Amino acid sequence: MQSFDVVVIGAGAAGLFCAGQAGQRGLKVLLVDHSDKLGEKIRISGGGRCNFTNRDLEPAAPHKHFLGDNPNFCRSALARYTPQDFIALVQKHGIPFHEKHKGQLFGDRSADDFIGMLVAECEAGQVTRWQPCSVKAIRSCDADDGARYEIDTDRGPVRSRNVVIATGGLSIPKIGATDFGYRIARQFGLRLVEPRPALVPLTFDGDAWAPYSQLAGLALPVQISTVRPEPVEGPAPRKASTSSARTVSFHEDLLFTHRGLSGPAVLQISSYWRPGQPIRIDLAPGVDLKEALLQAKARSRKLVANELAALVPARLADAWVQQDAAWQKPIGDATDKALLALAERLSRWELVPTGTEGYKKAEVTAGGVDTRDLSSQTMESKQPGLFFIGEVVDVTGWLGGYNFQWAWASAHACAQAL
Ligand code: FDA
Repeated sequence: MQSFDVVVIGAGAAGLFCAGQAGQRGLKVLLVDHSDKLGEKIRISGGGRCNFTNRDLEPAAPHKHFLGDNPNFCRSALARYTPQDFIALVQKHGIPFHEKHKGQLFGDRSADDFIGMLVAECEAGQVTRWQPCSVKAIRSCDADDGARYEIDTDRGPVRSRNVVIATGGLSIPKIGATDFGYRIARQFGLRLVEPRPALVPLTFDGDAWAPYSQLAGLALPVQISTVRPEPVEGPAPRKASTSSARTVSFHEDLLFTHRGLSGPAVLQISSYWRPGQPIRIDLAPGVDLKEALLQAKARSRKLVANELAALVPARLADAWVQQDAAWQKPIGDATDKALLALAERLSRWELVPTGTEGYKKAEVTAGGVDTRDLSSQTMESKQPGLFFIGEVVDVTGWLGGYNFQWAWASAHACAQAL
């Protein structure tokens, strides 16, 4: 039976990076993936250009850009492998890139550049790669050569001292996502935080959504907010937090769809949203709608919809005034009360999503292997020699390159400890 120092299962962002780093430290590494295509999620990321990291990341304040039952868990790994470290690697490989929006870095050409770079790093570490190859079972063992695990694969059994699970979350099952990592965690007695789709469009009930479905395709900048859920269990007794301290808010674009809402603003807030919880949207951020409408009333003979169209997109203005007869008249004839209600409804639109578009459309999976059962220094679990890295762990980043940075940083922390 072949024996390795480490078998990495899952050749996505985290697995490829970890395998290359471990190999370059002189370890004998096997990298296994069941998919016949390599790095498919990297290929489709960032609209095909891969938003590979974000310059705006403060490892000392991980709760700013990461969620999880213990947001501080990712602090150490993120501090030891920073966006600048990954940027240096990208530069070493001569990959051109640019900054888009809010610190987000994208490749100039194609995400294939990054897959090529990760493969080259694996080759530099003489990593053996078996793909497509399924893993059927993992067992503990106690072999003379120091191996602690036996792994049954399609290509026969292998032994290894360490196993790294880098099989990601449940998002986008059609390109190979599975619950393998969660099953292995359970098999070895580790706890799980219930997985749920995140960075995902939100959906609304058919009837309740009918007045807005005509807006499908409309995009506009908004301020969106919701209340951050209380962590299940804190490391120390905490003071009761006020709801304003718990409010999380994003200023980004929103997109109306036939079934609900999408766009960066909604994807970001979806990671914090829980069923039954309302979200609040300011459809005209930075505009004092009350003042503007009352001033227009004093000087204009136009319809409310026409005056409103100077303040928000015309399609939105038209759809909005259809909701109440008090708004379907010349603005001079509308009451102050009706205009204030209109302003209020646009700037504090509160709605309760029915659900999400699910794993089919979710960019990531929140929840996963409970960080209470992992070392934040090494990613090793309570089960010696069994490590978890990347998205399979209960660490979820914001949209904007944070999830890849977690994949690189957790892979690096693990590779240094193998
Ligand atoms: P990843 O999912 O990349 O890899 C897991 C690997 O394990 C896969 O190759 C899979 O085939 C394999 N596997 C699964 N089950 C297995 C089994 N049973 N046996 C063997 N192998 C198995 N993030 C970001 O920072 N910037 C961005 O631009 C984007 N864009 C983006 C777009 C879209 C459409 C999606 C869906 C996601 C993103 N993301 C993103 C998120 C990012 O892609 C994601 O967080 C990382 O790829 C996670 O890396 P992992 O290596 O943990 O899992």
